Formats: sequence, structure tokens, C-alpha cells
Amino acid sequence: MARNSTLICAPVMGRSVDQMLIEMGKAKAAGVDLVEVRLDYIKNFNPRQDLEVLIKQCPLPTLCTYRPKWEGGEYEGDEKTRTDALQLAMEVGADYVDVELQVAHEFANSIHGTKPQKFKLIVSSHNYHNTPSVEDIGNLVARIQATGADIVKIATTALDVTDVARMFQITTHSQVPIIGLVMGERGLMSRILCPKFGGYLTFGTLEAGKISAPGQPTIKDLLDLYNFRQLGPDTKIYGLLGKPVSHSKGPFLFNAAFKAASFNGVYMPLLVDDVAKFFDVYSSPDFFGFSCTIPHKEDALKRCDEVHPVAKSIGAVNTIIRRSNDGKLSGYNTDYAGAISAIEDGLRGLHDMHNTIASPLAGKLFIVIGAGGAGKALAYGAKEKGARVVIANRTYSRAKELADMVGGDALSLDELGDFHPENGMILANTTSIGMQPKVDETPIPKKALSSYSLVFDAVYTPKITRLLREAEESGVTIVTGLEMFIRQAYEQYEKFTGLPAPKQLFREIMATYA
Ligand SMILES: NC(=O)c1ccc[n+]([C@@H]2O[C@H](COP(=O)([O-])OP(=O)(O)OC[C@H]3O[C@@H](n4cnc5c(N)ncnc54)[C@H](OP(=O)(O)O)[C@@H]3O)[C@@H](O)[C@H]2O)c1
Repeated sequence: MARNSTLICAPVMGRSVDQMLIEMGKAKAAGVDLVEVRLDYIKNFNPRQDLEVLIKQCPLPTLCTYRPKWEGGEYEGDEKTRTDALQLAMEVGADYVDVELQVAHEFANSIHGTKPQKFKLIVSSHNYHNTPSVEDIGNLVARIQATGADIVKIATTALDVTDVARMFQITTHSQVPIIGLVMGERGLMSRILCPKFGGYLTFGTLEAGKISAPGQPTIKDLLDLYNFRQLGPDTKIYGLLGKPVSHSKGPFLFNAAFKAASFNGVYMPLLVDDVAKFFDVYSSPDFFGFSCTIPHKEDALKRCDEVHPVAKSIGAVNTIIRRSNDGKLSGYNTDYAGAISAIEDGLRGLHDMHNTIASPLAGKLFIVIGAGGAGKALAYGAKEKGARVVIANRTYSRAKELADMVGGDALSLDELGDFHPENGMILANTTSIGMQPKVDETPIPKKALSSYSLVFDAVYTPKITRLLREAEESGVTIVTGLEMFIRQAYEQYEKFTGLPAPKQLFREIMATYA
């Protein structure tokens, strides 16, 4: 795949010229195309002396920005001093200067006729509150263009993931080079997909959290995780729809597999509040395949045009594919097969039943903690395999509803510790209890675990939860959520790409992130 022409720019925000030079060196080593020198961060900045050093000694092209407080920066002095410094930056050899729309006319007039040939003026507008309508952003582009800008920069704020669609509409149709970014976690997609939707440049940070605007990814993530250089107009979009999503290991898995297979796709975490709205807005064939996680698995099913019978019986989908012939959405549940096969293999190892065809779950008493999407998949799967199913859930009515659906019994979560009608039971936690950051929590007292022969935990961050650790200490066989995650991802990958899943690669990647 050919490298796209969208640039990656690292903001450098050293408090001194020396710190700036160190960060510039790091940015060069990290593989970016240019640095944004945030002059407003330098303490006791002396333009005449410092700009020579910063611009001449920078190992990369420079974009000089001297952002005032009134536009979200650090500079608090008078305007003339600020714009004089930016003009000087141009004269000393900066490749780009960024000025805010409010002062752009005046600035463009002041440099008229003196612009070096390679120099480009970026005129920017930042909205830290929301993302206006397409019409309003379009008008803003026109106003910025009228100042004589070589490059238009518009940064807005995402209140919802669908706000990004309006920015894509603008960048795709722009007649001038444009930087269009939507700030905040819900706007991440705007920063990754600019090569697809015609963005001139994106920002990548040297370190996680060391950002100059909300939502910036690291350079390493852009280059290594999202394969930024290879993204282009034909790249298919995949992602995890959830809330929260930042803990997900899916991007590591799918992007590495796409890269290994030279498959033109990118998989991103997408912080989504409303699944139906997401699919209503992102209805183009480019938005091709999605994983669904908390809390969207049930709502996602309702939004699908066609639901696979197993997913329908479970009442939850974790995989959605857009059909290429008519754009309709098909929903599947790959959690079911992933979890059940992992538990079956755990039991086969325990009872040395490697060669038997019958499910080792047949006849077993199978306790599912939780009645959400994952709980339904496990309960349905266990029942299918001939187990006797009991659901224990915090909200008893939901436990009862699921138990009635699969023909099992229900308990409230409080009763679980004293529930041991027989030995050799199987326990599956499908709640988020014990998930990072609350790793000290567990859904059942340790003393109750000795009644079980196998304990499974759907939580996979951390790999060994408190529940699994205590089960192991009690001599019980354990099956991790990571095993379920890897197995459900096999099927998901095959549905996403039509290619066989690179099983060995998936295992190697997950071993590094576990
Ligand atoms: N390993 C994998 O591949 C994999 C795949 C899917 C899911 N998972 C994990 O499984 C877990 C559940 O996912 P889901 O999609 O099924 O979520 P979900 O549909 O939102 O269901 C959550 C379930 O957890 C219960 N719950 C949540 N917080 C609780 C708490 N503090 N105390 C007691 N019960 C609590 C809820 O009980 P109420 O009914 O009372 O609200 C509900 O039964 C997550 O940790 C997810 O990461 C892992």
C-alpha cells in the first residue's frame, strides 16, 4: 500500500529552548514529519535570540504557534509582541506559522509581499464547546480562506462520536488544504482517519497524556498501532463500539492482523453513547465492521436489519457487519462460541477427554454470574451443550428473566456464596466485577469456590482476576477471559475480512498485552 501524503506533526511544549530542542530530537526519532513549536510554553521567551536557535537547529520542518489564552493557549502578553514574534519566525525560516482567525487579516496584510516561497500560513479556529453544523463549519472555512490562509485549520469539540462525521464532510469536500480535527475522546476517529478524508495534517504526541489539545493520540499509536502511513481513501473502517472503550485490546489484535495480511482496514476504539444514532450517521459502506461491548450489545441487536439465529436466541450481538450489496447491517454473537469452547477445552484437559466428541458440559451444573450480553451468551451456550443452568445476578428480575429464557433457575447475587447443592459445578463470571481499576473486587467469597471444578471469568483486564487467583488457590481449574477474547476474535476477524484468522499471531499479540 502506498504511503499517503497526510503529515504527522508533534507539538513540542518545552519550558525552555533547550527542552524544546530535546523534544524536537525525540520527535525526529519517532518518525514525524514536522513539529509544532508552541512558543507560548517557553518561559522568558526572547524572540530575537530564541527563534534563530529553535528554527535553525530543529531537525524537522517547523510550525510556529504562539497561542494566546483567549484561544486556549498560554500567552498572556500584548498582541503586537505576539504577532511580531510570529512574523519574525517566518523571516527566520519557519515553514509554517499558525495564527488565529481573529488576527489573521491583520497578520496576512503585515506579511504581504514578504512571504518566502516555501512558507505557508495556517489560519486556525478552535471551538472548545461543541461542533457546529456543516453549514456553520463551511462558513467558517470560507471566512478563514478569505484571510489569505494557505491552510485552513478548524478544531471543534466532540460531544458525541457522530459530531466527527460533519468534520469529515467538510475535509472531504474542501477546495483548500485543511486540517479538520474534533477534540476529545469521542473525536479520536478524526485524528486517525484524516488520510482517508483528505486532512492535511494530524497531531501525534511524544508521550501519552502530554497533549496540547484533548484527545491527541501518541505518535507511536498513529504509526505502529493504526498504521497511519498506509491509510487512504479506500481504507475500510472497523471499530469497537462501547462506553468505556479505552481498555480494549481489540485495536492491537485487529490492526496487527490487518497489517500482516496487507488488508486495507483500520480498527479503532469508538466511544459511543447511542448505537442507533451511530449507525444512522455513519451509514456509508466505508464503515464496515464493528465489535460491540458494554453497554451496547442489546441495543445493537435492535439496530441490525438481520440477526443471526444464535444471536437472536441470546438477545445480544457483539459483531456487526455492513452487507456490501445493500448496506444493511447483519448482527452476530461470537462471544458464545469463544467462551464455551474455551470452557470445554478446560474441562477436557481436567478430565483427559481430548478425544471425545460429546461436550464435557453435558449434565453439569453451570452457574452464570450476570445477566447482560456476555451472561446471555454463556447461559445460552451452556444450555445448548446440555448443562443445567443457574443465573445469579445483582438485579434478581434480570436473572429470572434469563433463567426463564434458557430453562434454568435464578438466584440473587447475595445468595451465591451459600449455594452449593453439589460438588464439581462450573462457575462463569460475566459481570465487570474485578475489572481494572477495581481489581480487588470479586463476585463470590473464596470459601465457596471449593464446590466448583472449573471457574471462568469473562473479565480479561487483568488476565488473572481476584476470582481466578482465589479459584487457583482453592485447587480449581481456571479459564481466563483472555482465552474467550482471543477465540471470539477469530470468528470476528473472519467475518470482518473474509480471510482465515491468524490464530498464532493473535496469541502472540495477546501474550504481550496480558
Ligand atoms: N473476554 C471476552 O471476550 C469478553 C467478551 C464480552 C464481555 N466481556 C466482559 O464481560 C463483562 C460484562 O460484559 P457485558 O457486555 O455482558 O455487559 P452488560 O451487558 O452491561 O452486563 C453487565 C452485567 O454485569 C452486572 N454488573 C455490572 N456491574 C456490577 C456490579 N458492580 N456488581 C454486580 N453486578 C454487576 C450487571 O448486573 P445488573 O443486571 O444488576 O445491572 C449485568 O448483569 C465485562 O467485564 C466485559 O469486559 C468479556
